[in-house]
Amino acid sequence: MIYRTACIAILFTILRGANALAACPEPPSTNFADEATTLFNCSSNRPLIGGEGLPKFQVHYDFPQTLPDSSNLPWLAIDPFADPGGYMLSILHYATKVNARPDIDWRIQDNAEESWCDAPWFQDLREPLHGMTSERWSRPKELHALQTDWERNWAVGIYNDVACYGVGQMWDDPTFPKTKDFAFADGALGVKMLFTTAMPSEVPFLTGSKEWQVAANDDGSIITMRMLQLDISVKDKRSPNGWFFGTFMYDATQPGDNPYERLVPVGLIWGSDPDLTMSAYLSKAAVAKESWVNPKVAERFYALPRHNLGLNGRANGPVDNPLSACITCHQQALDWGRAVLPNTPAAKQAAELLPNVPSDPFDEETAKAYFINIGSASPVPGAQSLDYTLQLAKGMAAFRTWVIKNFPDHAASTTDIPPYPFKDESQDNMMQPLSASTDAHRFDQEQTDPSTQGMFSR
Ligand code: HEC
Repeated sequence: MIYRTACIAILFTILRGANALAACPEPPSTNFADEATTLFNCSSNRPLIGGEGLPKFQVHYDFPQTLPDSSNLPWLAIDPFADPGGYMLSILHYATKVNARPDIDWRIQDNAEESWCDAPWFQDLREPLHGMTSERWSRPKELHALQTDWERNWAVGIYNDVACYGVGQMWDDPTFPKTKDFAFADGALGVKMLFTTAMPSEVPFLTGSKEWQVAANDDGSIITMRMLQLDISVKDKRSPNGWFFGTFMYDATQPGDNPYERLVPVGLIWGSDPDLTMSAYLSKAAVAKESWVNPKVAERFYALPRHNLGLNGRANGPVDNPLSACITCHQQALDWGRAVLPNTPAAKQAAELLPNVPSDPFDEETAKAYFINIGSASPVPGAQSLDYTLQLAKGMAAFRTWVIKNFPDHAASTTDIPPYPFKDESQDNMMQPLSASTDAHRFDQEQTDPSTQGMFSR
């Protein structure tokens, strides 16, 4: 008997070791609490081929138990409207000061001077070397006139201590996330670095940028990628909507001793400019009033098919969907209090309640429904806002999907908000076992597969 158990254990180890080096560990038991906690703490469930000797991504949940003092954050001394570039650079300096040091290189668990954290429930999407997740692709000529190929982009996001306090309020108990009345405190900061497969031969401004080995291929093999964009989201009550979103891009022509010093502010946005319709833009020369866009950077893109970075000149990044804008997409972060499985009546209603990036910017009715300002209100009354933070929304959706598929009896007892009352739903639809995760993918900046990416043809 003992012999048989040992044999099975050895066989199991061999099988696991052979095909998935970065697989999540086995939970100590198959009960709900053990499985939920093991997955919560799992860094990456994606494969890795090669990469021996390279440090692995380690998910890090340093959640302060009390709200950190945010009165001395350096950017508070700068007026974001009078000096948007300076405001952004002060945040960039704060975020990179320790994290970007070569001995840390964004392994936030090694940062002994500050506390930063990751967002939970991305174990199935994070690659095992840097915890990066797949982003929208860049189509030919979107980044530079010399770009001939589709390029892949991957990104990793982290949060400062003020934000981590909020994440900890939500995820203090990995078996029972709490989202009721969720909101971050002022001073919360998200930072996201985007790396691309584009080579300097196609996108010359990437020359000399920071390179990372990323296990981005489906089989776990490694690609070299380089830093293209760095995004920030900061909760600051000076914004009429409570948040500023800013983006930097790497620019080889800038002076600087290291790649971070060659990041230039691209734009800052604090509202969706609801009145900036296509007709106002084209026939009345209307401009974005709730964005600042760095004119020197913007002019790099005018001659390209995308023309602007965000729709009609709203702030957005080079990697982002040119039909959208940072804050407009982000304000849709929410928790339904339940899973929303794909191809169900609930998913259909969810899509209607949260309008997606309009595929036709000339369709003014659809564009107007999308480019709204909501302040701190929920994007859907009756659902809980997750305060403009889409990683939290996607992680929560992944957790709820896992619960309904594996422990349906726990669905009701793992939410502290009422499940959103979608109409006309039979239990059968709710329980349908489906492989894709949830409607959360609708937040993807766009389809990541170029064969299905048809939006924003101009
Ligand atoms: C069309 C939608 C969309 C647009 C436009 C967009 N984002 Fe995001 N953003 C996302 C999604 C989805 C995530 C979660 C990423 C993931 O899957 O890991 C995210 C994550 C982030 C994060 C990490 C914190 C968080 O909210 O989870 C930051 C910071 C961020 N984005 C900043 C920006 C900035 C700055 C811009 C504009 C330059 C921008 N985003 C434009 C969809 C968007």
